[in-house]
Amino acid sequence: MKLPFAESYKIKMVETIKRSTRKEREQWLKEANYNLFNLKSDQVFIDLLTDSGTGAMSDKQWSAMMLGDESYAGARSYYKMKEAIKNIMGFDHFLPTHQGRAAENVLFSVLVKEGNIVPGNSHFDTTKGHIEFRKAKAVDCTIDEAFDTVIDHPFKGNLDLIKLESVLSTYPKEQVPMIIVTVTCNTSGGQPVSMANMKAVKKLSEKYEIPVCFDSARFAENAYFIKTREEGYQDKTIKEIVKEMYTYADMATMSSKKDAIVNMGGFIGMKDANLWKQASTYNIMFEGYVTYGGMSGRDMNALAQGLDEGTEFEYLETRIKQVEYLGGRLEEFGVPFQKPIGGHAIFVDAKKILAHIPKEEYQAQTLGCELYLEAGIRGVEIGAILADRDPETRENRYPALELLRLAIPRRTYTNNHMDVVAVALKNVYDRRNEIKHGFKIIDEAPIMRHFTVQLQKID
Ligand code: F0G
Repeated sequence: MKLPFAESYKIKMVETIKRSTRKEREQWLKEANYNLFNLKSDQVFIDLLTDSGTGAMSDKQWSAMMLGDESYAGARSYYKMKEAIKNIMGFDHFLPTHQGRAAENVLFSVLVKEGNIVPGNSHFDTTKGHIEFRKAKAVDCTIDEAFDTVIDHPFKGNLDLIKLESVLSTYPKEQVPMIIVTVTCNTSGGQPVSMANMKAVKKLSEKYEIPVCFDSARFAENAYFIKTREEGYQDKTIKEIVKEMYTYADMATMSSKKDAIVNMGGFIGMKDANLWKQASTYNIMFEGYVTYGGMSGRDMNALAQGLDEGTEFEYLETRIKQVEYLGGRLEEFGVPFQKPIGGHAIFVDAKKILAHIPKEEYQAQTLGCELYLEAGIRGVEIGAILADRDPETRENRYPALELLRLAIPRRTYTNNHMDVVAVALKNVYDRRNEIKHGFKIIDEAPIMRHFTVQLQKID
């Protein structure tokens, strides 16, 4: 008999999580103004809000923490991180930052100016926020297949080269500071970009003399998909694939809270020494001196170790198979979600499940609240609330997809937890027609409203 698959680690430390009653959850959700970000973590049983900074560090990472060098300038930990980034991604220059959006802030302070156009594949919300904050425009060039949850395309994160070239040929190069390739593409469902696509984007970037920036939060998961789905990469190691990926990038922003498996941290990787010099000034202003940039020495040590572990096949296989396991259970129950299954999350198709609720009542948010009420599970809305208003017209933007993202933290939950999530969602799915209404917004921030939005139930 073939042996079943099992995790490539065992558990050395545990944390208690609390169950609650439906009545308690109804009260807590009301007090949170139906915004799941407002819940206390103790009010949540299984927290799938994000896979960012919520993973479990390894024994090696914890032991690396003890060896952190906390010197202000030139710390050993800085050089450890520098070496790891050079070895794994090939960047000669880097700046540490406290997280991914800080890397965006520093890099974009140098490169993005008012009136600029920044093409990419479904820019993440903070990326788009930092572009729009500078009165520049993010243009989405993702392939159309990404916006249909039932099309089974292996690389739904790919950029449409025709859309991209039409942007590059329309605007003068001075107006387009970079092309952003998000690996994996979070917004379109944790979907990977193929090596062939990266190569083709780089070719266009050279033709138009515009640099390429990889938004790298889940670069290792992307490499796993290249290995398992793209012709010619089966026999390569993840580290070899990652090395090749970064030959097609001029720079990178990184949220280390994902694929470097730390709770906090980020960096900018750069090939150009002059760019490093310019960015250093902003790093010192916003983050900290260039050899720590918002990170403590121990955190830089853990990050260096995490980058190495995060690019090991056995770890990635365990990780992605857990996401697939949850997807498989949902498939059994007929719950619709974005196919193929992405790297870090299942993106449940709320538009299909709650088709009878108008989009103006926030279908994905409604589904998220129902799942919380059902079993204390917290997901996150990737729909009209997140899409926010158009900065010019102030009209609500309604994206093609209304998704409830169930992001799986790394090395944190077991497949028993995944079973609870799947059954809870099945129960909500089975009673979907009893859910009559969604929500209306009663208070929202002018930018990135989803974090603080307050909602009211529509009766
Ligand atoms: N880019 C991508 C693709 C991301 O997914 C994120 C964060 C960032 C940049 C920003 O990094 O959080 O370290 O400042 N994504 C988290 C999420 C928040 O839940 O998907 P950060």
